[in-house]
Amino acid sequence: MIHFKSLLTYPGSRDTQVFFFIATQKNEMTKPGWTRRQFVLASSTIVPVASNARAKDGCGVYVEADSGPFYPVGGVPFVADLTTGPGGGRANGQILYLFGHVTDGACSPVAGAEILIWQADMNGQYDHPNAENRTALDPNFSYYARVQTNEVGFYLFKTIVPKWYNFQGLRRAAHIHFGMKHRDGGEALSEMYFAGKEHDNRRNTDIVWRSRNSKTRRHMIASMLSPEEFRALDIKFELGSLCCKYDLQII
Ligand SMILES: [Fe+2]
Repeated sequence: MIHFKSLLTYPGSRDTQVFFFIATQKNEMTKPGWTRRQFVLASSTIVPVASNARAKDGCGVYVEADSGPFYPVGGVPFVADLTTGPGGGRANGQILYLFGHVTDGACSPVAGAEILIWQADMNGQYDHPNAENRTALDPNFSYYARVQTNEVGFYLFKTIVPKWYNFQGLRRAAHIHFGMKHRDGGEALSEMYFAGKEHDNRRNTDIVWRSRNSKTRRHMIASMLSPEEFRALDIKFELGSLCCKYDLQII
């Protein structure tokens, strides 16, 4: 299991220094996963703000999402790196660093929030009992992970770009699911989609995507950018990797 010591330049920026501490403290822990019922009872709202589509008013615009059929059913480990799995090797696919800040309705950082992600692998497969075909699972990919935001509300994952998939006749564009649990009890969900012509075309035939609020769903689309764009973060990005910045807000 790769610790963030190998991912971050240390000493680094305030964001990554604090995150390094949290990641190394939590990395080996496993706690019971959140339940779908907990999300039904959620009292907060998660607001995705992709780096390429910031809202004009406040910190974001509300875009609802749901847990979908592949919400984790078991414990989700506190790990930030999904690219090394039980197989002991390295996950297949384009390496993606996924990070951002979590803020509240006043645009102040939310420290100590749990950020959970779950996603398909590069073959469009989920590791979940509801998956229609699990024979193609990548033994080196961790399909679920969670981290905690640091004192400035920063979170960071190392993962791969998922592939689009079909499920029960639905054509789903590539996306990553987000769950967030505020330390004060509020919970909420989001989904992040990818910018680019191929992804745009996939979304156009994605009924779930098209069911989202047409005025606000653009905030769920993030651009895949070069690590050069984020040099100020002092993260030791892997060669050939890409980055998505996806800020989240609780209101
Ligand atoms: Fe999904």
